[in-house]
Amino acid sequence: MDTLKQGKSPIYEPGLEELLIKNSSAGRLAFTTSHQQGLSQADIIIIAVGTPQSDHGQADLSYLEQAAKDLAEHIVRDCVVVVKSTVPVGTNQYVKQLLLEQLKNNVEIKMVSNPEFLRQGTAIEDTLKADRIIIGSDDESASEKIQEMYRPLNVPFLLTDVKSAEMIKYASNAFLATKISFINAIANLCEAAGADVRDVAKGMGFDKRIGAAFLNAGIGYGGSCFPKDVKALLHTSRELGVPFSLLEETIAINDHQQELLVGKALKRFSALKDKKIAMLGLSFKPETDDIREAPSVKIARSLTAAGAKVAAYDPVAACNARKVIGDVIAYVDSAVEAAKGADALFIVTEWEEFSQLELGAVLNVMNQRIIFDGRNCLDETALKACGPVEYYPVGRPEVILRDKRA
Ligand code: UGA
Repeated sequence: MDTLKQGKSPIYEPGLEELLIKNSSAGRLAFTTSHQQGLSQADIIIIAVGTPQSDHGQADLSYLEQAAKDLAEHIVRDCVVVVKSTVPVGTNQYVKQLLLEQLKNNVEIKMVSNPEFLRQGTAIEDTLKADRIIIGSDDESASEKIQEMYRPLNVPFLLTDVKSAEMIKYASNAFLATKISFINAIANLCEAAGADVRDVAKGMGFDKRIGAAFLNAGIGYGGSCFPKDVKALLHTSRELGVPFSLLEETIAINDHQQELLVGKALKRFSALKDKKIAMLGLSFKPETDDIREAPSVKIARSLTAAGAKVAAYDPVAACNARKVIGDVIAYVDSAVEAAKGADALFIVTEWEEFSQLELGAVLNVMNQRIIFDGRNCLDETALKACGPVEYYPVGRPEVILRDKRA
């Protein structure tokens, strides 16, 4: 709380601190832990608590239930309650019921489902220049109030009912996750056939019906959204008795993809015991320090379980990674330091600085010049100019340049 008041963001998100400072000093933004203070003047209340995954894949609604309980106790005037959290179809109705059962004051509450579509790392741009704003409500005046709030952004609205709005969020995330699993399955075919998945994706992406976005093959999707939301939608489909085996396949392909680099290294070395591995990237994607469901976690665990010694470098996520992976791997301060004496380099997150690496400097400090690029982010021409190297990308032919003197 104090951190936020000082204009400091508890997470790494480009541009966020500038906005915190600008809006706090202009008196447009304030923080409090007091429900009374926060709610007494509110016309619109936005619930944006987490809905993490629980044991059987379904969304854990406990934070939402607590929020409803707190609201019911402290709401003192008529208001619109907006659920921004990602919640299974039917949840807004459940929240309204919880509120009505527990309300302490005689006030009128209207509900709006308004799912969030921003991505970590580009959160500000995604918010201010969103593709769409979904407003799901069964009450026209509540819907109008939320449209009024968003109107300055000049983003297209889709007005719909509450359940459809809830479903749009899961359908969007599950579709994007499936698009990634699809291109990863194609990547594996490309590898076997000798084709290049980057060109295949480019060729597909020109077709406006397919679109070029989210066709980057790699080591699978991670983060706090796709993995849990695909599972939660699958859970909903089972609950409703409507089979959705496509989602099972999306998950299975993703699980397999996250083990891809380790599988390739095992094939190359036969055994990984005492091999030194440099790992570049820990966060689940660039421009964030979030390592929830990051492929790096699985990869680090598989490597150390196989007896390898891992030194990892990430521009911002090492601290969070240490909390989850622990000290079974080393955390270092640069790519070159990670590469010192390494038998192989794993690229796990496509941070911009990795594609700009001075490859010669990295390769020269390695024990063996072998690279497994899980994000296809190195420039092949620059790599080939560095002399002997073995380069294993995803969904593309490998490059093996042997030392001519050997
Ligand atoms: C995702 C959605 O893109 C947002 O629209 C949504 O609001 C958010 O979830 C959420 O539900 O809160 P996010 O998880 O922040 O956003 O990040 P993405 O950029 O979607 O990436 C997710 C994962 O997919 C990352 O691990 C990324 O490396 C992977 N990915 C993405 C690929 O492997 N290939 C691609 O082509 C794109």
